[in-house]
Amino acid sequence: MFEGEKVILRSVELSDLDEIMKNWNNLKMREFLATPMPFSREEEEKWIRGTWERRRAGKEFQFAIDDKETKKFLGSVGLMDVDNVNRSAEIGITIHAEKNWGKGFGTDAMRVMIKVGFDYLNLHRIYLRVYDFNTRAIKSYTKIGFTEVGRHRQAHFVNGKYHDVVYMDLLRDEWIEKKK
Ligand SMILES: CC(C)(COP(=O)(O)OP(=O)(O)OC[C@H]1O[C@@H](n2cnc3c(N)ncnc32)[C@H](O)[C@@H]1OP(=O)(O)O)[C@@H](O)C(=O)NCCC(=O)NCCS
Repeated sequence: MFEGEKVILRSVELSDLDEIMKNWNNLKMREFLATPMPFSREEEEKWIRGTWERRRAGKEFQFAIDDKETKKFLGSVGLMDVDNVNRSAEIGITIHAEKNWGKGFGTDAMRVMIKVGFDYLNLHRIYLRVYDFNTRAIKSYTKIGFTEVGRHRQAHFVNGKYHDVVYMDLLRDEWIEKKK
């Protein structure tokens, strides 16, 4: 479907479940996400089915990320809470296996998803939330063109400490300018 330099984005399928369950409950990865708590296989199956329903409703667009070269499943990226009046949505991404972090797959998948958001869904603004300790993610988002617009200070508690939730966003005009 949607191709980048290193990845392809496509619909999430039930056949991805085995791959998802290999790393989805890895605490090191979960600490970067909304909750560090584990998910069952049944919950993930429900989530996959939910992505199809929410896509049909125009509310959320979740895609599986495949390595363009090996065709292997790498993770998922999605636009959520699509606001049709303000043309705004939140973006979220997870490259599941630690061995695939820092190789540019996530940054490329974000760029493709942003293109889908601006060029196919006609969004005006894409925003995200990231925890202050996730320096790899913040570097990636900054490289793409996101700007920090504020913080909810000490709003997230994980592994015994409070952390700031950093808000970043990207306007369509800024993205077009960045591509020149
Ligand atoms: C965050 C994520 C999407 C970033 O994608 P990625 O493809 O791994 O990122 P990149 O390989 O492009 O690296 C981004 C930057 O971080 C740097 N980086 C890599 N590993 C790092 C590390 N351990 N610590 C700090 N910076 C690191 C890279 O050098 C690069 O910066 P540069 O372009 O200036 O050299 C991906 O790593 C991921 O999914 N991680 C786990 C889940 C997660 O954090 N999701 C996001 C929640 S908000």
